[in-house]
Amino acid sequence: MSLPNELIHEDVIYLIKIAPSILASDFSRLGEEIKKLEKSGADIIHIDVMDGHFVPNITIGPPVIKALRLSSMLLFDVHLMIENPDNYIDEFIDAGADIISVHAEACNHLNRTINNIKSKGKKAAVALNPATSLTTIEYIIDDVDMVLLLSVNPGFGGQVYIESVTEKIRQLRTMIKNRGLKTNIEVDGGIGIDNIYKVTEAGADIIVAGSSIFNSVNMADTIKQLKEKAYRV
Ligand code: DX5
Ligand code: ZN
Repeated sequence: MSLPNELIHEDVIYLIKIAPSILASDFSRLGEEIKKLEKSGADIIHIDVMDGHFVPNITIGPPVIKALRLSSMLLFDVHLMIENPDNYIDEFIDAGADIISVHAEACNHLNRTINNIKSKGKKAAVALNPATSLTTIEYIIDDVDMVLLLSVNPGFGGQVYIESVTEKIRQLRTMIKNRGLKTNIEVDGGIGIDNIYKVTEAGADIIVAGSSIFNSVNMADTIKQLKEKAYRV
């Protein structure tokens, strides 16, 4: 098995991690799918929560995540594409979330929301839609563990990567470096073995991949290839 790829910025070394999105999995066998991902070399499980309001689609909520928690020890990276996330943070934490991403576009009091997540001992991330400027996070970036950049308009799997996000990743990595932070950059949407290079080369260290993993013949082989094709310094 190949070693995880790495990204070096200044003296900070980031191992590039693959976070399969279970949105593309067989929902009738979610527990088995997660166990299979764990055996296939996934580093993190990315769970897409959609409410039919913030995005035009509905997926799963805390009870399902709680049930899935029994199937894996991997970090659960819960991407909340919901309105009023504050009302549900505790439920997602109780269900077993390790990382919680809230959309800047959905939070009226982002600082409060982020610090609420952190006060409960969980990793807090802010997510940005493709057209949302990085200036939105200028006054919160020092407080977050991770920034999640959407490289598709959220709501559905299997969409095409939006090219302008590559430059946004580069600018975010520079912003993080200039402030001497160790913030992770996760990128989500339209990423597969053919384009992971440009995403990691620009500075992303956690890569979400849904359809490219689940639609492949061999998940383990695809995850291995994703790691191999990621940027190596
Ligand atoms: C988009 C979701 C993504 C999506 C990724 O709304 O946040 O996590 O499932 O799927 P692919 O890799 O198929 O674009
Ligand atoms: Zn997602």
